[in-house]
Amino acid sequence: MATKLSDKKLAVLGAGKLGGILLRAYLKQGLFSPKRVTATVKHGEKAATLAKELGVSVTDENRKAVKGADIILLGVKPQVVGDVLKEIAPELSDKTLVISVAASVPTSYVEEKLGKKVPVVRAMPNTPSAVGCGMTGICAGAHAKPEHVEIAKSMFDAVGRTVAVDEKNMDAVTALSASGPAYAYIILESLAEAGVKVGLPRDIATLLAAQTMKGAASVVLETGDHPALLKDAVTTPAGCTIDGILELEEGKLRVTLIKAVVKATERAGELLFEK
Ligand SMILES: NC(=O)c1ccc[n+]([C@@H]2O[C@H](COP(=O)([O-])OP(=O)(O)OC[C@H]3O[C@@H](n4cnc5c(N)ncnc54)[C@H](OP(=O)(O)O)[C@@H]3O)[C@@H](O)[C@H]2O)c1
Repeated sequence: MATKLSDKKLAVLGAGKLGGILLRAYLKQGLFSPKRVTATVKHGEKAATLAKELGVSVTDENRKAVKGADIILLGVKPQVVGDVLKEIAPELSDKTLVISVAASVPTSYVEEKLGKKVPVVRAMPNTPSAVGCGMTGICAGAHAKPEHVEIAKSMFDAVGRTVAVDEKNMDAVTALSASGPAYAYIILESLAEAGVKVGLPRDIATLLAAQTMKGAASVVLETGDHPALLKDAVTTPAGCTIDGILELEEGKLRVTLIKAVVKATERAGELLFEK
């Protein structure tokens, strides 16, 4: 797939935090050829800096950037998507694949703004894509064929794992795995803080917390075992872990995390509709 993609012309519209992470990863891996990549940002002065750093053409002109593009990766904020799509629509054909990573924006909205039968794939990646450990949910729009989904999948597989979901679940994916790194960082930071409280140097406490969370997640991914069973294996009768768990239950950690994802899912459905 890598050779196939390197023949394609890619335009990344909105090379901000997420667009920039994906673009940097693609260039680092040689997934796309720099001379076939263009990117845009809103502020012209940022374009020059980014162009110098990445070695690709960066402008503030979306329409110019998508000319002749095979794949358009839409990385602007949900509220800006409509205007950007109207701007670029005249340059697109039914051969241009549009991949949108915008939260809250349905494929039908993208199709309607483009006003033609363009293949659209909606994707929801997360920031650990920066280190090849991303998690992306994808779903296809009305005109996307299996080969379009395959191209999108290969672009997100290159930076982690990809799972196909029904579009009705995309706000849930947004709240769980796209927002999820923020929750994980808070938990990790709290564990490190706890280590400091019980006497560990901060750098060692942070290492212990981070590697422990990575290890626990890796075991779930590699064994497929239920997390509750894995938790039981750590919990010796009358040992110390059960005392820690009791504190977590009293502090309502589980219900707090569940409520966080429910709230974020509701919010994910609203973003498109505010200016
Ligand atoms: N951050 C995440 O973890 C994450 C995860 C999944 C999905 N997403 C989605 O990714 C999208 C971007 O989020 P982000 O966090 O990366 O935001 P961001 O850092 O603010 O990036 C947005 C980028 O869009 C550019 N931009 C704004 N208006 C534009 C226009 N009219 N034409 C071209 N570029 C324009 C901005 O340019 P300037 O830099 O010049 O302002 C900026 O580079 C959002 O739709 C979000 O829902 C984000």
